[in-house]
Amino acid sequence: MSARKILSIAGARPNFVKVAPLVKEIRRQPDLTSVLVHTGQHYDRTMSQTFFDDLEIPAPDVNLGVGSGSHAVQTAEVMRRIEPVFESVRPDVVLVVGDVNSTIAAALTAVKLGITVAHVEAGLRSFDRSMPEEINRILTDAISDLLFVTEASGADNLRHEGVDAAKIHLVGNVMIDALEQTRSRWERSPVFAHLGIEPAQPYAVLTLHRPSNVDDTRTLSGLLQALADVARALPIVFPVHPRVKPALRDSDGLYWAADHAGEPLPDKGIVCLEPLGYLEFVALMSRARLVLTDSGGIQEETTSLGVPCLTLRETTERPVTVSHGTNRVVGTDPARIVAEALQTLEQPPGRGAVPPLWDGRAAERIVRILRGEGRAR
Ligand code: UD1
Repeated sequence: MSARKILSIAGARPNFVKVAPLVKEIRRQPDLTSVLVHTGQHYDRTMSQTFFDDLEIPAPDVNLGVGSGSHAVQTAEVMRRIEPVFESVRPDVVLVVGDVNSTIAAALTAVKLGITVAHVEAGLRSFDRSMPEEINRILTDAISDLLFVTEASGADNLRHEGVDAAKIHLVGNVMIDALEQTRSRWERSPVFAHLGIEPAQPYAVLTLHRPSNVDDTRTLSGLLQALADVARALPIVFPVHPRVKPALRDSDGLYWAADHAGEPLPDKGIVCLEPLGYLEFVALMSRARLVLTDSGGIQEETTSLGVPCLTLRETTERPVTVSHGTNRVVGTDPARIVAEALQTLEQPPGRGAVPPLWDGRAAERIVRILRGEGRAR
């Protein structure tokens, strides 16, 4: 297959991290043209433009400006607005990444126009169909022509679903490409001075945004209670996703960083911040004693950084982060979270192993395949 014009789709924060190395690699090829479409699913400066700046992603050629809405409205708006873009750009390949609503919306629109669809981060399965991302992953994989996989479990899952093996390419992880390509910059990040963190000061990092954790007040307050208990041992830095902010406003015992800006980080308690940029967030994770999260990508980044991670969910679609890396899936039971966190702090696990092909060269392999130069390895 020979591809000349590759149109990449990015909609939400984790997509920006994934498209950065891909667009960079496509643009390095004299025989390829890169077109970047931002759906506008994430639109706040801290959720979008900051990532373009930090990751040096060129400005999108098109921004569809879909914004927020119910799943159906958001997905439908992306489809409605992207179809004329595909018709006028006429790409050879539409490249979609991850598992957000923009991913399935763009893939579905493209495939119905007869355009080749390539899915980066294919095959991951939590086997929990109550997660909107699981539905997006299954559907996107079912209609994609090229399936780029980050870990062996992804290839196994696709084969079990009956996908033709010729479509499946184990290429590694573009999120790790982004991490390595920006290393020299995040290692110099001023985030520690900004947050008043002393060089050897212990702290943990928290992120929470899954609907199953934050949309139900009982679940959220159980989690916050557990985290407050952990935060008696060390401060927990919590950059807050916009969807979670309203629910936290009524919670007791949280400090908002604006309340003590410029002061040293306290030695205990949960410190809430606005969302951080990419370089600041990776820098913060890299020196944390512990990361607590319900994100997918953070399980992978902590594995690459060798930082202990507790995943506050019942399942992971990224099992290599447990079998090789530093991740443990601990669920959402408050007592278990406290016990696991305190145990990890007392007896830190080793750095773990870096999963196969997570070497910072996944985008190179993907683009080589897109150019029709053969299999990844
Ligand atoms: C989306 C993805 C999720 C991904 C996450 C990363 C889907 C189904 N979910 O979830 O897989 O892990 O992005 O962040 O696509 N909002 C703002 N400003 C923004 C963006 C969102 O205020 O720039 C608020 C809005 O109230 C919005 C809510 O956050 O309704 C949720 O945003 P949405 O894009 O629908 O889903 P996320 O929870 O961000």
